[in-house]
Amino acid sequence: MVRAQADEVRQNTLTSSQAAIQQHYAEVAEEVTEEVAEIAASGSCSADRGCGKPLERAALQPGEVVLDLGCGAGSELLAAAAQVGESGQVFGLDMTPQMLALAQSRVEQAGFSNIKLLPGLIENIPLADASVDVVISNCVLNLCDDKPRALAEAARVLRPAGRLCIADIILVAADLPLETRRLTAPILGCTNGVLTTAEYLAALAAAGFSDASVEPYRPYAARTLLQRAEQRGHNEALAHLSSTIRQRSVDNAFAAANIQARK
Ligand SMILES: C[S@@+](CC[C@H](N)C(=O)[O-])C[C@H]1O[C@@H](n2cnc3c(N)ncnc32)[C@H](O)[C@@H]1O
Repeated sequence: MVRAQADEVRQNTLTSSQAAIQQHYAEVAEEVTEEVAEIAASGSCSADRGCGKPLERAALQPGEVVLDLGCGAGSELLAAAAQVGESGQVFGLDMTPQMLALAQSRVEQAGFSNIKLLPGLIENIPLADASVDVVISNCVLNLCDDKPRALAEAARVLRPAGRLCIADIILVAADLPLETRRLTAPILGCTNGVLTTAEYLAALAAAGFSDASVEPYRPYAARTLLQRAEQRGHNEALAHLSSTIRQRSVDNAFAAANIQARK
């Protein structure tokens, strides 16, 4: 089932943006000590970085095959494995070895034998065509260099009528000035741009999905953006957002969203 194993990751041919993201998540994973990982064998983990709950809408059934794109520390893997049971299979794909190591230790401590971790990029999923029933993901597409390619890969590995069920960050205010959009999106981790609802629906259709929905559920207030920009050193964005008019324009302009579609 496993195709060529994560060529880009092995051959170290990450884009500079992917390498920076990998470095960041390596540090997040390394902050979690073994002791904490043990406590967090099930349930949540201090290295969780999701923006939603994709499993709440995935309605997983016993025996299903699930793929988590950018599984990180693996909280969703553990929950999915319990839901699909021993007759099911859960794959966790991530490009950061430290995150995979943390997830692996949690999987072992929780005692699941139906979870397999895969090193690799979501833009080049190391699984065969039509081999998965449900693709989930929690706040990873926003980091992605090439969202159309990642969505096309998700469609490729899904079986006909397979479900896509992801949490991601979108731009609700489609009329936000382009310069503000470009400078502000990276504050929320949309390092290579952010999609509006209409653009997301178009990207899903282009990737081969139907019955798609994009439902924003948690808007980001301007003050949250400013706080995060300060914490993360987005100085150009901070300078851009120094005017009250621009702060008003970004207030609730971005949101975490539930995105669902069927192949
Ligand atoms: C925001 S964290 C989310 C992790 C997890 N889904 C959660 O909810 O905690 C993003 C994760 O995606 C991984 N990631 C980012 N871009 C990726 C890519 N292009 N291919 C594979 N993994 C990626 C990172 O290594 C990191 O573990």
